Amino acid sequence: MKNIVIIGASGHGNVVLDIIEKEADFNVIGFIDTYKHKCRLANGYQILGTEEELPYLIDKFNITAGIVAIGDNWIRKKVVDKITEIVPNFEFVSSAHPQAVIGRDVTIGVGTIIMPGAIINSNAQIGDFCIVNTNASLDHDSVMANYSSLAPRASTGGHVNLGAFSAICLGASVIEGITIGTHTVVGAGAVVVNHIDSHVVAYGSPSQVVRERQEGEPYLAKSKDSKSEMVVIHKSKERSTL
Ligand SMILES: CC(C)(COP(=O)(O)OP(=O)(O)OC[C@H]1O[C@@H](n2cnc3c(N)ncnc32)[C@H](O)[C@@H]1OP(=O)(O)O)[C@@H](O)C(=O)NCCC(=O)NCCS
Repeated sequence: MKNIVIIGASGHGNVVLDIIEKEADFNVIGFIDTYKHKCRLANGYQILGTEEELPYLIDKFNITAGIVAIGDNWIRKKVVDKITEIVPNFEFVSSAHPQAVIGRDVTIGVGTIIMPGAIINSNAQIGDFCIVNTNASLDHDSVMANYSSLAPRASTGGHVNLGAFSAICLGASVIEGITIGTHTVVGAGAVVVNHIDSHVVAYGSPSQVVRERQEGEPYLAKSKDSKSEMVVIHKSKERSTL
């Protein structure tokens, strides 16, 4: 079984940890996080250090791969790029919760995370470093380009094309055959019935484009994890192999 690290010790990182533990294909050694104190515990696993320390940590713990657990599509790319610069041959793994339903002839790229209750129907193609979140549904023959995401309970009809870095937010629905450009955000609860261009924010039912959007503009609420992490530190027992 491969020894892996989870890059990102936030709430999303803890969900990814849970998926990997349940999938039981990899041995988690700990977390990598630039913004959290080394040696702290996150869900019982140690924060081993930063991305810069990866070469040393890889040797020390015989780490052969990792997964980037960062919810924001653009920041996830930045972190993947940084790791690839530091460790050019670093292997990124993908992970699917055992209670996700994955249809026949579905392709899933590297670094992609499929959360519990997600349904991916036949012939769908999911690129690299995507997120299909809790109870999201990607219907047949749909395509998610690299670094795109479906938030919890987002759903698409068949033959939907979601562009790179674009996000379909909480509970939004996209009817069949729709194309959504790159770096676009479809807001929570939207119902998309027309194609949407690149670099815009759209929401409402039926959805309307409400403004333009720059690459990398935040679309997720700020994490409250720094507080919850303190609680975890006090409650958890160390499970790392350290
Ligand atoms: C799209 C999104 C980022 C908001 O975009 P925004 O342009 O920054 O919008 P703002 O928060 O500045 O709000 C501007 C206005 O639009 C309204 N609005 C914002 N999001 C809306 C939505 N999804 N549907 C309808 N109206 C919305 C606000 O109420 C506000 O109205 P007001 O001017 O009358 O007060 C937000 O709707 C969203 O979907 N966030 C992502 C949530 C998510 O999926 N999280 C995933 C967790 S895993």
